Amino acid sequence: MAEPLTPVHFFSHGSTMMLGEDSRSADYWKAAGDAALANGVKGIIVMGAHWDCKQDHAVQVAMTAEPVKQPVGNVHPSKYEHYRLKPDLETGARCISMLNAAGINASGNESFQWIHDVFLVLVRMFPDDNTLPPTTIISANARYDPHFHVRVGAALRPLRAENYLLIGSGGAVHNLYRNVWYPMLLYKDNFAQPTPPEPWALEFRQAFRDVVEQNSGPALRRGLTRLMKHPHFRDAHATDDHYMAALFVAGAAGDIRDEGSVGMLMAEDWELTNMCSKLFNFPLNVP
Ligand SMILES: [Fe+2]
Repeated sequence: MAEPLTPVHFFSHGSTMMLGEDSRSADYWKAAGDAALANGVKGIIVMGAHWDCKQDHAVQVAMTAEPVKQPVGNVHPSKYEHYRLKPDLETGARCISMLNAAGINASGNESFQWIHDVFLVLVRMFPDDNTLPPTTIISANARYDPHFHVRVGAALRPLRAENYLLIGSGGAVHNLYRNVWYPMLLYKDNFAQPTPPEPWALEFRQAFRDVVEQNSGPALRRGLTRLMKHPHFRDAHATDDHYMAALFVAGAAGDIRDEGSVGMLMAEDWELTNMCSKLFNFPLNVP
């Protein structure tokens, strides 16, 4: 029987235009934010995809007191420049201690600028920045070792029992080299589908969904780790950066005490023909 812990989200944040355009994903982000507030969420802890620590087997935690938001391409600044971030330095320090206690080299970064992979999701979840919960950002590691990222998520899993919401913001099918860009570049249309997604994108999308929805506990961790050896992994992820958030989530939601709870696909959008943005909430308790 799984413990009743605060859920974990895996969000594919998609292109920058997901910040400015309406979508099924945007609707679900808002619903997830509303649910978090209704449940009195204490804080958000998120690993994105755009910040990698270059040191071997190490991560950094954002400890910038007044972070700057990096500009977001193809989105009018009015959609985000006014939005007040709420860095959670207290929880950040705590995350560093918890990670160190788990044998992970973690340290604070006091000059990190926030990037859209994180604040895109926050703006969509909590459009009124007065309601934004305090937020902690954990970097990924640039060696992209899947097992290491599972360990990072596992080390922070106990915070779920304190009503922290852990989020991985990456991508399910995310290969910028294989996207069809011209509708966005010419017409600012990120959802155009001049052709269907290519078979490798559809195959990997389905494999990802199958692993998440049909495995729980350590099997979830094994499944998402194993997907990096899927025949279409390199087609779906030309670089590994957007996949690490999924492994962070597997660490946070794939303990043996999570057995019996599975993930569920809550929303999905395709952008730029071949980029599949999928939003998973897990674990959900199996009745
Ligand atoms: Fe991204």
